[in-house]
Amino acid sequence: MCNCRCSHDVRVKRHRSFLFAKMEAEGLLAPLSLSAKFEGSFAYLTVRDRLPTILTKVIDTLHRNKDNFFKEYGEEGTQAEKTAISFLSKLRNELQTDKPVLALIDNAEDTEAWNEYMQRQQDLMEDGNPVSWFKSPWLYVECYMYRKIQEALYMNPPMDKFDVFKEGKTQSYFESQQAIKSLCTYLQELITNMENMTAIQLRDNFLKLLQVSLWGNKCDLSISAGQDNSQKSSPIDSLPDLQRFILVDDSSIVWSTLAAAQGSGSSGMKHTRVDIVLDNAGFELVTDLVLADFLVSAGLAKQIRFHGKSIPWFVSDVTKQDFEWTIMQTMAANHKWMSASGVQWKHFVKEGTWSYHDHSFWTLPHEFCDMAVDAADLYSTLQGSDMILFKGDLNYRKLTGDRKWEHTVPFDQALRGFQPAPLCSLRTLKADVQVGLQPGQAEKLSSQDPDWMTNGKYAVVQFSNPHREQ
Ligand code: F6P
Ligand code: MG
Repeated sequence: MCNCRCSHDVRVKRHRSFLFAKMEAEGLLAPLSLSAKFEGSFAYLTVRDRLPTILTKVIDTLHRNKDNFFKEYGEEGTQAEKTAISFLSKLRNELQTDKPVLALIDNAEDTEAWNEYMQRQQDLMEDGNPVSWFKSPWLYVECYMYRKIQEALYMNPPMDKFDVFKEGKTQSYFESQQAIKSLCTYLQELITNMENMTAIQLRDNFLKLLQVSLWGNKCDLSISAGQDNSQKSSPIDSLPDLQRFILVDDSSIVWSTLAAAQGSGSSGMKHTRVDIVLDNAGFELVTDLVLADFLVSAGLAKQIRFHGKSIPWFVSDVTKQDFEWTIMQTMAANHKWMSASGVQWKHFVKEGTWSYHDHSFWTLPHEFCDMAVDAADLYSTLQGSDMILFKGDLNYRKLTGDRKWEHTVPFDQALRGFQPAPLCSLRTLKADVQVGLQPGQAEKLSSQDPDWMTNGKYAVVQFSNPHREQ
């Protein structure tokens, strides 16, 4: 501390900026969060255009279902629908006019966590400005919007179980029927020939299905604000043409890690467990189930734990109901190989080889580096995994904290200590955060395709292993 006569406040401020400068120099500080406060950025355009469009569609959905609410709940249903619509119209107006975000009042399991997080955001605001839609981190306000949609339903009890995004998810599954048929046919052929497969063939097929699951992530309904975004062409046939759009491809390390896990048990063979943190329903979920089936059928995993959302989320994300519905629909399909796949999946669930889990942390706005402290139970569950596959863009944003990282920063560094087990992100790029690129790679992409970070044409398979030797 200095000996001059400056005020206590000034000295505290100086000391603080000294500490910040030191931490920055030592690489301990993370870069700024992406935010709509950066005018013209993708975050700005999302908050200005895409989020109000999504809210409008939610309002329309409630309105279109008003007769159903009346049939099911009578006058109480009609009243609930009206109250929810006016709540959501007000929310849209607050968003568009950059009003402060408000604490949640619905007394749900996660309400306190949300309000506590809002306080954290408040503490980060400059000059005591309130946390608001255009001034706060994009990740926070976007998650908050989906949680507020749920509040509108929680506050109007007969509707609290209604999934405002169900119709879109169902439609996207049906619009991808051809692709699903061809994928299930491919899977069943593989399973029939599995016994005669050489190790190299096994590896090649694993890599193919990993890529199918990767590109399945193109089909989310949030980036298209709910418009049809389903898979029309044969997924396996498209792979060679898509290869050059994979910017980082760690898939062979994923394979070798899984293969090594097989022999690491005390008795030689290990009870390998793979966790899949799901993203979207519809075609993407089918690609994840196909990959999971292959892992089990090929003996690469003994157990698969799927992690999904406990409330409707980001338009197309998987809930327990979507998970079960997809398996039932596939089982009931009028197509030999589709239904054979569905029957097998149902069996995996019944015998416990596959299990579905949800945890409120997946629908909180936190970066994943907060998980060890803010959801210690989930973190320790994940620590028991041999490989965690994180699907999709939002999971990538949470893995990297949705920050303005330099593109060449290593993936491990951007995880900021989040390393419960070997993990891999399978993500098509739909937000302007990307790490782990080679020097010059981002510049080249920017000159060839200025929207490369957000147009969903590019993808990454990025791996991190806490046990990796340095
Ligand atoms: O609305 C923004 C966004 O988070 C984008 O980053 C992304 O396009 C989408 O929503 C969600 O994508 P995904 O379903 O792949 O997580
Ligand atoms: Mg999604």
